[in-house]
Amino acid sequence: MNVIADPAHYPFPLMLLPYPYEALSPHIDPCTLHFHHDRHLKTYVENLNKTLAPYPDLHDWTLYQLLTHLEKLPPQIQKSVRNNGGGVFNHQLYFDSMTGVETKPGSVLLQAFENSFGSFGEWKSKMTEAATSVFGSGYAWLISNDDGTLRIVTTPNQDTPLPLRPLLLIDVWEHAYYLQYQNLRAEYIKNWFCVIDWDKVEDRYLGR
Ligand SMILES: [Fe+2]
Repeated sequence: MNVIADPAHYPFPLMLLPYPYEALSPHIDPCTLHFHHDRHLKTYVENLNKTLAPYPDLHDWTLYQLLTHLEKLPPQIQKSVRNNGGGVFNHQLYFDSMTGVETKPGSVLLQAFENSFGSFGEWKSKMTEAATSVFGSGYAWLISNDDGTLRIVTTPNQDTPLPLRPLLLIDVWEHAYYLQYQNLRAEYIKNWFCVIDWDKVEDRYLGR
């Protein structure tokens, strides 16, 4: 799924998980995935559609268009589209960035990590720091700059980093880990690295 070029528009569908609920165990358990996908993401999708329903002019706008032109929307729905549309975008990319099959960053990505952070290991430690430092609810992202270098950003709540080009993100809202890890966000972050789908990250980096 290319979430940036995704042609979907109102009424936005609930994406299917690209793997079975058990696929990410033991790093992310099926119960967490059920709640996260079937309840949290579903609610964002429903609320986004409810918000857009009375505005037929917006019914052919893609999620990317909505989120990158918030200022062009009627003022009374900007906040809801930002929160619920962001919730849909962020979760679709999050679920689509994980896999139960072991993958590794390829040579192109490894070179980019080396150029931008000194080494892959250094990126991992900076990404861990960023995800740990998000106060309250939000995300840590791996972003691709126009010149091919990489950087890390964090966003609060359901904000997206758009129009920057996201390659990968970790959801550090408590609902992403609390059922399995309780308050141990650091454990969840450590184990999340084991389920990253590096093939998808590379596809995004190469614009595929
Ligand atoms: Fe979430």
